[in-house]
Amino acid sequence: MAEADVGAAARFASPVNRDVPLGQPGEFRPLGLGPLSVWPPVVLAPMAGVTNYPFRTLCRRQGAGLYVSEMITARAFLVGHRTTLLLASSRPDETPRSVQVYGTDPKDIGEMVRALVDQGVDHVDMNFGCPVRKVTRLGGGSAVPVKPRLLERIVRAAVRSAGAVPVTIKVRKGIDDGLLTFLSSGRVAEQEGARAIGLHARTASQLYSGEADWNAIGELVAAVSIPVLGNGDIWESYDALRMVRQTGCAGVIVGRGCLGRPWLFRELADVFDGREPKAPPNFGQVAAVMVEHAELLVDFFGPVHGMRQMRKWVTWYTKGFRGSASVRNDLGALDDIAALRQLLTRLDPNEPFPAAALRAHRAKGSQCQRVSLPEGYLDDLDDDRPPRSVHGADELEAWEEALSGG
Ligand SMILES: Cc1cc2nc3c(=O)[nH]c(=O)nc-3n(C[C@H](O)[C@H](O)[C@H](O)COP(=O)(O)O)c2cc1C
Repeated sequence: MAEADVGAAARFASPVNRDVPLGQPGEFRPLGLGPLSVWPPVVLAPMAGVTNYPFRTLCRRQGAGLYVSEMITARAFLVGHRTTLLLASSRPDETPRSVQVYGTDPKDIGEMVRALVDQGVDHVDMNFGCPVRKVTRLGGGSAVPVKPRLLERIVRAAVRSAGAVPVTIKVRKGIDDGLLTFLSSGRVAEQEGARAIGLHARTASQLYSGEADWNAIGELVAAVSIPVLGNGDIWESYDALRMVRQTGCAGVIVGRGCLGRPWLFRELADVFDGREPKAPPNFGQVAAVMVEHAELLVDFFGPVHGMRQMRKWVTWYTKGFRGSASVRNDLGALDDIAALRQLLTRLDPNEPFPAAALRAHRAKGSQCQRVSLPEGYLDDLDDDRPPRSVHGADELEAWEEALSGG
């Protein structure tokens, strides 16, 4: 690397990471998920309201890896809920195509997975980690692993319907420290033919607060023979190397760190391949990505919904740049791409990427919660029946809340 580049990279390497050696030849292996071989072993976390086709496209252009859709509710999908079908959809340029499914009824899940596979989906992930109140209150998301027999039935239905298409599951550590479920979920995943298990190393009660417990990832690696994907607090590319080396996980799942930073996937490809990543973009380059993102959103969701979605992205992309507060104040007026271009002229295109923004948390606060479960849910943990037959409307409402939650 040229000397000038070393200076630039060093300026942006945070103190936490400066001493992490780059990937060495032969040190890491591609992530094997049945017929899929994923290199670098990096997965874009499913994120409701975020990992739709437009954002996946931006990320995919930067690097390689596997880019998962946001959670798609089986009921909503099966009844043909319009937004749900759009969010589950893709375009021919996306390959491999990966969809995360959510549901509590093995029959629905089986039917949904069959339909997705018929549409050409290459990978199915299953959501057993969502902590959102309206979801757990119905026995969904992170409530499911509390009942391992039910978890078994749901995973089995998906694996059977998927045929050769790999199925993975994604869980949290458990409900809270008194009710940990990740090890039993690992056993179920292994036994039912899931190709990997992803662990967001927090409990549902923790939501996004505190630090992810990477030791739990190591514990799961030691307990199962299928690949474990570690998840939680990868803010910079070097964090991924640290996580894999510290826990022995087969790959990493990257969530909030890439919000407004799709080039994180290029940096991840660099460090796994043993290359020093380039310094992050200056504001002029970030602004170009933002305009492209807005164009993709408008093309996919239409002008009104697309620009409305762009507002949160503007907040994430501009985080830490001088003058970004004034931009955020005027987001209400952001109704077309011309207005976005105009707004972006307020910031200095030559300003380098603010190093402090690298580890700044985006999207979620620091609060905890008491997890809400269906009444009597803990009375019989061996019960393998789906929670009380939920009203379609209830589940759609939960889905809509999850779209803004996750
Ligand atoms: C806005 C947002 C939406 C999310 N939606 C989902 C989802 O649909 N499915 C899921 O399994 N996890 C969801 N999550 C959790 C992430 O996939 C990931 O597990 C979590 O953010 C921890 O990883 P991180 O520390 O890299 O962000 C969501 C997280 C965020 C921030």
